[in-house]
Amino acid sequence: MLDTLRLKRAFRRLNRELEGIRPDLSGADLLNFVYSKPGSLITPWQYREEVEQLVAELEKLKPARALEIGTANGGTLFLLCRLAESDARIMSIDLPEGKFGGGYPEWKIPMYHRFATSDQELELLRGDSHRLETLQRVETFFQKEELDYLFIDGDHSYEGVKQDYEMYSPLVRKGGLIVFHDIVEHPDSDCQVDRYWHEVKEGKNYKEFVRDWEQGKYGIGLIIKD
Ligand SMILES: C[S@@+](CC[C@H](N)C(=O)[O-])C[C@H]1O[C@@H](n2cnc3c(N)ncnc32)[C@H](O)[C@@H]1O
Repeated sequence: MLDTLRLKRAFRRLNRELEGIRPDLSGADLLNFVYSKPGSLITPWQYREEVEQLVAELEKLKPARALEIGTANGGTLFLLCRLAESDARIMSIDLPEGKFGGGYPEWKIPMYHRFATSDQELELLRGDSHRLETLQRVETFFQKEELDYLFIDGDHSYEGVKQDYEMYSPLVRKGGLIVFHDIVEHPDSDCQVDRYWHEVKEGKNYKEFVRDWEQGKYGIGLIIKD
């Protein structure tokens, strides 16, 4: 009961904060917010030092068409919305009660919509990224225009991450970014992104944002599409 009250209070405070955030904040200010107490409901599941490097890439890229797989608490979605073009189209997919995070409850949906700035269009797709129907909904939303940015952070099994890459990377334009989260080996976990990452990066133009390869979780890998 006390926890629910605390959560509701934190949620109300976050909503007020989100309304007060200027749409033109720098990446550094946005990071300060999501790693602060008022932003704690949407803190990304990432090491700050690693996500800082991704934020620097997003500031340069300023995506106009972006797809995220794995919304969860919304931390990476918030950063994406605020660093994208002011009229960007953004979609984030999450499977309710999906593995590797469990999705998000419906009551968070209005809060996630506040992440987008006034001229952006944000679609929250609640479904399985691996279904053909989901791919078709993605293509419809982007009106068959190419993506500047794809963030893969959904099903972390070897087959799951491979399928996300194979289904959605063809939608990314030349020079666009394809980003994987959790590329470090995760011992005693079902996460196998590291296995797929070491295969898929071969022969490609890539970057790795990893604090320490022995840290046992997280790590970001980025491919610049040829
Ligand atoms: C690690 S969390 C995402 C974290 C978030 N991007 C962040 O950094 O704050 C992974 C999410 O992927 C979702 N997921 C798992 N399998 C999925 C699938 N097949 N399709 C869509 N979402 C999936 C889970 O429900 C979970 O919420």
